[in-house]
Amino acid sequence: MSELPQGSVIGILGGGQLGRMLSVAASRLGYRTHIYEPGAAPAGDVAHVVTTAPYEDEAALRAFAESVDVITYEFENVPTAALDLLESLRPIRPNRRALAVSQDRLTEKDFLTGIGLTTAPYRNVETEAELPAALAALGAPAILKTRRMGYDGKGQIRFGDKDQRDWTGAPSVLEGFVKFSAEVSVIVARGVDGQVSAFDPGLNVHREGILRTTTVPCGLSQALLTDAVLLAAKIVNALDYVGVMGVELFVTPKGLIVNEIAPRVHNSGHWTQAGCAVDQFEQHIRAVAGLPLGDGQRYADVEMENLIGDDVLRVPELLKQPRTQVHLYGKGAHRPGRKMGHINRLL
Ligand SMILES: Nc1ncnc2c1ncn2[C@@H]1O[C@H](COP(=O)(O)OP(=O)(O)O)[C@@H](O)[C@H]1O
Ligand SMILES: [Mg+2]
Repeated sequence: MSELPQGSVIGILGGGQLGRMLSVAASRLGYRTHIYEPGAAPAGDVAHVVTTAPYEDEAALRAFAESVDVITYEFENVPTAALDLLESLRPIRPNRRALAVSQDRLTEKDFLTGIGLTTAPYRNVETEAELPAALAALGAPAILKTRRMGYDGKGQIRFGDKDQRDWTGAPSVLEGFVKFSAEVSVIVARGVDGQVSAFDPGLNVHREGILRTTTVPCGLSQALLTDAVLLAAKIVNALDYVGVMGVELFVTPKGLIVNEIAPRVHNSGHWTQAGCAVDQFEQHIRAVAGLPLGDGQRYADVEMENLIGDDVLRVPELLKQPRTQVHLYGKGAHRPGRKMGHINRLL
């Protein structure tokens, strides 16, 4: 496929806020979107078509694929069988390998170390019985994470000392605790033609396992900024990747350690909406549609803050603030831990 013609339909697996913002970006470039989502779909409000069906519904998957020109996703845990069916009908971008690698924390770490990057020390812990040996090997403190389906700190247990024995209930990896001075992330894009473009790394602050703020510039030295961008480029090149990827890094005295990768647009890239001429959502749509990547240079200092749970009650006040973009996801009722929107404040 070369450039996707105007009016083409981009299929998006997953209908959350990332799919919503991808849909808006696609429409600005003259495309339509079709959202496939088993549950409630905030993205459906701004899409051309929405399919509400489980990922096990073969007829719905087939009809979805046949109605679109290319398929992308905002959610990396789509079941393999669904992807097999979809891929037989339409191209999936980013590709299956990127999904397979990042759906499982063990495969992901094996891939990253295999291309010469540094991760936290880790051990596969297939069953509870393997935990004591892994803890003995890595020492404490350590973090046990389910291999699949974790997000926002879910599916993780922290071990303060090596005699603790809680179990996640599923195949897991044990990671040695990294004493980092900061967490940063790089949002990197790769086009169909292999062109790579990275946004400036952002500084991430988490609370209760959930991203609270991302700030640019992130305060890293020029040498580390370069390292961050080069290692992100190495990852997308190794995967022959097409689209935007989020690469989460720990900053340590020994250099950068890769925490995890996400084969999609990323919460820590929302600042690009206010800081760049072309934001991460447009960059992803450009890549998936076979268009040239856009200008991802940063033209402003920005702080992105997530509006989580009842933070959304601050919206009337936030709307009055200068230099502030308010983005709301149209999710209705707020619940603790639920991402309701975000703001981008120009510093
Ligand atoms: N090995 C580690 N050492 C120290 N902190 C960690 C480690 N792994 C995760 N964390 C902390 O927990 C947060 C969430 O872990 P992460 O692996 O990114 O899972 P999630 O998929 O939930 O984002 C990280 O952003 C970091 O603050
Ligand atoms: Mg993370």
